[in-house]
Amino acid sequence: MNAHVTDLEGAASAPFYLAQGDECTVFAAAATADLPVLLKGPTGVGKTRFVAHMAARLNRPLYTVACHDDLSAADLIGRYLLKGGETVWVDGPLTRAVREGAICYLDEVVEARKDVTVVLHPLTDDRRILPIDRTGEELQAAPGFMLVASYNPGYQNVLKTLKPSTRQRFVALDFDFPAPALETRIVAQESGLPEDRCAGLVRLAGKLRGLKGQDLEEGVSTRLVVYAATLIVQGMGVDRAIEVAMIEPLSDDADVKRGLRDLVAAVFG
Ligand SMILES: Nc1ncnc2c1ncn2[C@@H]1O[C@H](COP(=O)(O)OP(=O)(O)OP(=O)(O)O)[C@@H](O)[C@H]1O
Ligand SMILES: [Mg+2]
Repeated sequence: MNAHVTDLEGAASAPFYLAQGDECTVFAAAATADLPVLLKGPTGVGKTRFVAHMAARLNRPLYTVACHDDLSAADLIGRYLLKGGETVWVDGPLTRAVREGAICYLDEVVEARKDVTVVLHPLTDDRRILPIDRTGEELQAAPGFMLVASYNPGYQNVLKTLKPSTRQRFVALDFDFPAPALETRIVAQESGLPEDRCAGLVRLAGKLRGLKGQDLEEGVSTRLVVYAATLIVQGMGVDRAIEVAMIEPLSDDADVKRGLRDLVAAVFG
């Protein structure tokens, strides 16, 4: 079980991901041991990028499902569809991943309907089976199949959290905003803006995050800092880029936005 991620095939072509800690090693170990992984953390801190990166490094196909409150077990497993007068069974993304030995990534899993968790249970314990009621099949997951789920514990209401019997089937990794030096490198790499200029935006993001809880639901994400830097690279003035990428997306409340602008003035002014 010594999955040294540096030795993995596919590493060179993997999408850029800058590790914050040992998450790559943990993920690779879980993949080797056939354990499902749960990624927790606020919006825009790199969860989706991390999964894409690891799937490439591990050389496994990736099926991503954005969960929503209407997503049912049939959406994941598959259904009979009418094709040219004939009824044919069409696998859903989860079934395809189970058959092919791929990674199935359920983004925002708590949003999905309750019947989805029922499907996940036999797949996420040592049985690794997917019963398909409609066809009578019971699939044994192919080697390489891995279930990855993510959710944001911050803003979801208490009803929309995972049951202990579900969450205790996963190895869990907690994601948070990267440390300033790391975030500066991420923003520079993603946007093309020189690191010394990104550092100011990252410092500002840190200050804005300090307001979380009082006025803001969520702190400004790394994604938004990348947006601001990208707009600056395209020639937009710094003030305007901060306004449209780091203030306006955070709140609709005029008072809150005024508070945010005051902070910008204090950091950049
Ligand atoms: N560690 C990182 N390495 C490289 N890029 C990162 C990293 N963290 C964040 N990013 C950048 O931030 C953007 C947003 O990350 P991502 O889409 O993975 O967030 P997320 O955690 O999946 O958010 P959400 O919960 O909203 O889906 C990425 O497109 C990338 O530009
Ligand atoms: Mg995501």
